[in-house]
Parts: sequence; C-alpha cells; structure tokens
Amino acid sequence: MAHFPSVRPRRLRENPAIRDLVRETRVYPSNLVMPVFVRPGKRERRPIAAMPGIAQLSPDEALRECEAVAKAGVKAVLLFGIPEGKDASASWGHREDGVVQQSLRLVKKEIPELLLIADVCLCDYTDHGHCGLVQEAGDLPRIDNDSTLEVLSKIAGSMARAGADVIAPSDMMDGRVQKIRDELDAAGFKQLPILSYAVKYASSFYGPFREALESAPKFGDRRGYQMDPANFHEAFREAEQDLEEGADILMVKPALTSLDVIRALRDRFDAPLAAYQVSGEYAAIKFAAQQGVIDEAAAVLETWTVLKRAGADIIVSYFARDYAARLSG
Ligand code: PBG
Repeated sequence: MAHFPSVRPRRLRENPAIRDLVRETRVYPSNLVMPVFVRPGKRERRPIAAMPGIAQLSPDEALRECEAVAKAGVKAVLLFGIPEGKDASASWGHREDGVVQQSLRLVKKEIPELLLIADVCLCDYTDHGHCGLVQEAGDLPRIDNDSTLEVLSKIAGSMARAGADVIAPSDMMDGRVQKIRDELDAAGFKQLPILSYAVKYASSFYGPFREALESAPKFGDRRGYQMDPANFHEAFREAEQDLEEGADILMVKPALTSLDVIRALRDRFDAPLAAYQVSGEYAAIKFAAQQGVIDEAAAVLETWTVLKRAGADIIVSYFARDYAARLSG
C-alpha cells in the first residue's frame, strides 16, 4: 500500500460526533433474540445458579418475561423447555400440552407481534441428556441418526401447531432440516421458516446451559455429533447441506470463538446469519462483572458489535432483555 503522510486516522476519533458519523457497525434491538427457559408450574421462577439473572419460568412467568423483552425493543424470543418428564424416546417433546407448546400458545395469544422461535432438539426431553435417540450397539451406546429424525420432526410439527413462528433445530443430526421441512410442508406450514443451528461446535461454553436445562449427558459427550472446534472448512459443508435441505437462516455457535467462521459464512452464502452468544459466554461476562473486573454493559455492547462486524445479522443473547434498550442509532 502506498504511504500517505497526510492521512491521520486519529482525525476521525477525537470528536464524538465524527466518531459516530463514521461508525461502520450498528446493532439494533431488532437484531437480537432473547432465549427463554420454560418449566411446568404456576408463578414459578427458578433461578439458574450458573447464569445469574436467568431463570426457569412457568408459562405465566414466561409470558411476563416476554412482555419485558418486548418492552425493551427485542422482537424475538427462543424457547427451550424443561419438561415434566424425560424418557428414552423424548416423548414429552411432542405432546400438544407440553410446556413449550403451552407457553407458545399463551404468548402468541397475548403478544401476537413477538416472534416465537422454538428450539427443536431431543436433549431437553431424553432421560440420558443426549440430542438423539440412543441405540445400544454392543457395549458402546450410539446416537442413532435416522430414528432421531422421526422424533425431531414430530416435535417441530407440534411446535408449529402451538404457534411457533420459526423452527430452530439444534441437534446436529444429518438430514434433519429436510425431514423437518417435509413434516412442516405436509402439515400445512409451508411458510414457516427454519433457522438451523448449522455450525454448532462441541464446546465447553455450553456448560451453564446444561445446568439450566438439566440436560448434561449422563454418559459420553456430544463430540459424536457436534463439530470439532479445530475444523473450519467443515462449517461450509454443514451450511451448504442445511441450505440445500431448505434452511432459511443459518446459525453459528458459540459466537466469540467462531468469529472466523461467521465472517467466512457471511462472505460465501447469502442466507441470513445468526450468532449465538451461548451460556458460557454469558456467564464469563456476568461473573467477571460481579467480581468488579470488567464493566458488564460495555463488554456486552462490545461483543454484540464485534459479532455484527464479523458478519452476523442476528444475535441470540441472554443479555438481550437487559441491554437492548442501551442500543442507540
Ligand atoms: C442442545 C443445545 C445446547 C445449546 C442450545 N441447544 C447445548 C448443547 O449442545 O449441549 C447451548 C446454548 C447455550 O449454551 O447457551 N440442543
């Protein structure tokens, strides 16, 4: 590059109005999605120790939470369920009166303008905590891909009937987007978009979420179906496959450990792209702030801005409710 001695980038930094004028990236409340954990009961709020400020909520409390989220300017929530019962076949996931289904109906009725995204996975509902059905093969339990697809598509169908606006499969089985698309189309939900967790790394940053959902695997780990954090190119194959199968929006997680992948996907595909700032990323900022070693608000706004700079259009964050209102034009 040529050397221009008269160029002084600092000229654009000292005056706040100029800084604002040349700012390349802005995050809006409408870019955010707030996750909500729902559990059975009435007037129940069970705080999650690993995630201060976040609780498991009964459907009526989830409605109050959604009201607060909407008031903060956030236009979308992502619902996860802690069901009344868990079993080997994840059958609580597709009950018409399941806890997520109830919450969807209630929130849809009371706040029709709020976009309801239903997470679809088996780990909320299986007694062993894995994201798929387990098949005993000799001594080694295996996650069976294809039988899992049947259950995932049933869960997706029941979420759609309950009022979900978007279906978000997070299981990482192969072929799930196609299977869910077929199910939704057949059930008359051709217009319902699929947000696929296309690039989901096996990550230590999901730890607090597993406490929140009581879904830590009882044996083994998730490396048999989630991606190895060492792999970059594999993200293209995952994204391409999901798009071919009918995914409308792609998601990457965790967020801050995947900035290279977010940028690369944004440059390569034109589908909308979401980044999920996961539970461990939330906890890391939260606990550091509680210890007084970082400024929580500044850290949150910085991470959101950087995710958008990297190419994310949509940011899923447990901080959405509390910090959306601080975003300004
Ligand atoms: C599993 C699922 C996970 C998260 C979202 N969906 C956890 C996992 O794979 O163990 C993690 C979200 C978070 O950590 O905030 N279906």
